[in-house]
Amino acid sequence: MCGIVGFNGHKNGIPKIIKGLESLEYRGYDSAGIAYINNERITIKKEKGRIKNLKDLITEKENAYLGIGHTRWATHGEPTKENAHPHQQGKFTLVHNGIIENYMELQKILKDKHYAFISQTDTEVACALIDYYYQKDANIKMAILNASKQMRGAFAFGIICEDDKETLYAIRKTSPLIIAKSKDGNFIASDVPAILEFTNEYFLLNDLELAEITKDNITFYNEELKEIKKESSLFEGNLEASQKGGYEHFMLKEIHEQDEIIKNTIACYYDGTIASLDKSFPDLTKFNKIDIVACGSAYHTGLCAKSFIENYANIPVNVEVASEYRYKKCFYDKNTLVILVSQSGETADTLAALRKAKKDGITTLAIVNVVGSNIAREADYTLYIKAGCEIAVATTKAYLAQVAMFSLLAIYLGYKKGLIQEEELIEINKDIKNLPKMIRKTIDNDLYFKIADQIYENKNIFFIGRGLDYALCMEGSLKLKEISYINSVAYQAGELKHGTISLIEKDTPVIALSTEDELREKTISNIKEAKSRGAKVIYVTNKIPEEKFYDEIITIEKIHPILQSILTMIPLQLMSYKVAKNKNCDIDKPRNLAKSVTVE
Ligand code: M6R
Repeated sequence: MCGIVGFNGHKNGIPKIIKGLESLEYRGYDSAGIAYINNERITIKKEKGRIKNLKDLITEKENAYLGIGHTRWATHGEPTKENAHPHQQGKFTLVHNGIIENYMELQKILKDKHYAFISQTDTEVACALIDYYYQKDANIKMAILNASKQMRGAFAFGIICEDDKETLYAIRKTSPLIIAKSKDGNFIASDVPAILEFTNEYFLLNDLELAEITKDNITFYNEELKEIKKESSLFEGNLEASQKGGYEHFMLKEIHEQDEIIKNTIACYYDGTIASLDKSFPDLTKFNKIDIVACGSAYHTGLCAKSFIENYANIPVNVEVASEYRYKKCFYDKNTLVILVSQSGETADTLAALRKAKKDGITTLAIVNVVGSNIAREADYTLYIKAGCEIAVATTKAYLAQVAMFSLLAIYLGYKKGLIQEEELIEINKDIKNLPKMIRKTIDNDLYFKIADQIYENKNIFFIGRGLDYALCMEGSLKLKEISYINSVAYQAGELKHGTISLIEKDTPVIALSTEDELREKTISNIKEAKSRGAKVIYVTNKIPEEKFYDEIITIEKIHPILQSILTMIPLQLMSYKVAKNKNCDIDKPRNLAKSVTVE
C-alpha cells in the first residue's frame, strides 16, 4: 500500500524523505514522488516505477527544509506519472494513502465549481476539496477538517499549502500515519521504519485528529479544531531490526530470526505456570464459541487455532475471511469471543470486522504485531505477538509467532477447562523449553534448497494434507505463489480424488504433509493415489515410514502436537524462498502485493 514520508526541519529534508520512502518499499508500490519547498516555490517531481527513477530527477543542489514524499500502490487509475503523488489543486499539494469511496460524487460537485482534473485518482479530488473549503474562509486547518469530514473511506494525508510555506499538515482516518520528533526536525510517516534512522519517538493520531507541524513544534487538534495534548511513544526496536543484517533478502533474515522470536513471544506470556497465563490473558473462560477473523496468512493461523482450541479446549471455533465476515450474517452472542488476527494491525477488512463485532456488543480480542496500530487500539483486549518489524511482504516470523500465541491460548483454555492435565502440561513445558533449539535445527537444513532446485521450473505445485496439516498446506501454498508466481493449490488429501487429481501428470510436484498420527494412514493412501498418477511426491513428516511411496522426504522432529505446526511450516517457507530465488523474483516485494492492505 502507499507510503507517506514528510519532513519539516532545520536540515535538508530531501535525502531524509527519500531514505524514508526506501524503507517503506516493502509496503509495495509502482510509482514515487516528492514535493518540496525551495526558494519560496513548491516543486513537484514524480515518476513511474522504482524510487531510483525519482532519485534520477533530483540533483544534489536541490535543498529543502520542508517536503512530502510518496510511494503509490495504484488503486484508482494506472501506475502512470500523472497518477503518481503528490497531487496539486489550487493552493494545496498533498500525498495520500487510502481510498476515498465517494470521490466520484465529490468530483462531480467540484467540476461544477470549475475544478479540472488531470489524473484519474481519488487523491486529486481530495486535494481540490480542501482547496474549495479554503477558498471559502481562508483557514487552512478548518479547510482540511471540513474536507476530511466530507470524505468517506480511509485516508492519511500529508499536506502543504502555498500560503503557509513554514508548516506541514497531517490528518488521518483509518489509514496509518505517525508523527515523529527528532533533533533536526519533525516527520510524518506511514510506518516506523521510515523514521528510525533519525528518531524513535513518535505520536499516534486518532481518526480525524489534525497535526500542525513546524520545524520546532507539533500541535494536535481534535475534529472540532480544539488543541489537544498527546503523549509520545518510543519504538522498542532498533534500526538494525529494519535492515537486512547480511542476508540477501528480508524474507530469509526473518525466517532465520524465528528461533529467537518464538522464544521471546512465548516467554513474554508464559513461564511454564498457568498463573503466568492467568496474568497475561484476559479471562476468556466464559466464552463457549469463538470466531477467528483475519486475512491471508493471518487467516491461516486461525485454521491452526481452530484445530488447537477445538481439540484441547473443546470450544467450537469458526474461522472466517474478514472480507466476507464484515458483510455476512453473524450468529454471535454475548458468549462469543471474536478474535482478530493481524500482523500490521491495519488491514482494512479485519478492522471493519472488528468494528462490526464491537458495534454488535460482542467481546473482541486482537492478536497483533504492530504496537499502537488501529486494530490493537480498538479491540477490547490485545495480545502482541512481539515478532519485531517484519519487512518482507510474505510473512514468516509473524505467522509463526501468531501460531505460537494460539498454542498458548489453547494450553490456557484447555487447562482451565480441565482437559489438559498436569502431566500433559509438564510434557508441553519440556517441549517449549527445547523449541528454540528445534526451530534452529529445522532451519539449518540445506535439503529444502536442493528440493526447490528440482521443482522451480514447474507450472503447478500441489500441497496436500489432512486436519492441521491441511491448514499448513494453505499457508505453504500461499507462500509459494505470492513470491514465486507459480500456480499452487492446497487440498485436503482426501478431496483430491473428487476432481483435482485430474490435474496431476508425470512429475507434477505434490508436497504432502503428514504430522498427525491418527490421520497418517489415510493421508498415505491419498499420497499413493497421486503417486500412481505420476506425481513427484515430496513427503514432509515427523515419522519416517517403512515403505517408500515418495520421491523426497523431509523429516522434522516430533514434538507435542500443540506445538508441531511451528516446526512443520519452516521447510515450506524455505522451499518457497529458494524457488522464488531460482526464478529471479523480487522476493521481498512481490509484484502487485502490499505489506499492509489498508483498502477494502
Ligand atoms: O497485516 P495482516 O496480518 O492483517 O495481513 C493480512 C494479509 O494481507 C497477509 O497475511 C498476507 O496474506 C501476507 N502477505 C502473506 O504472506
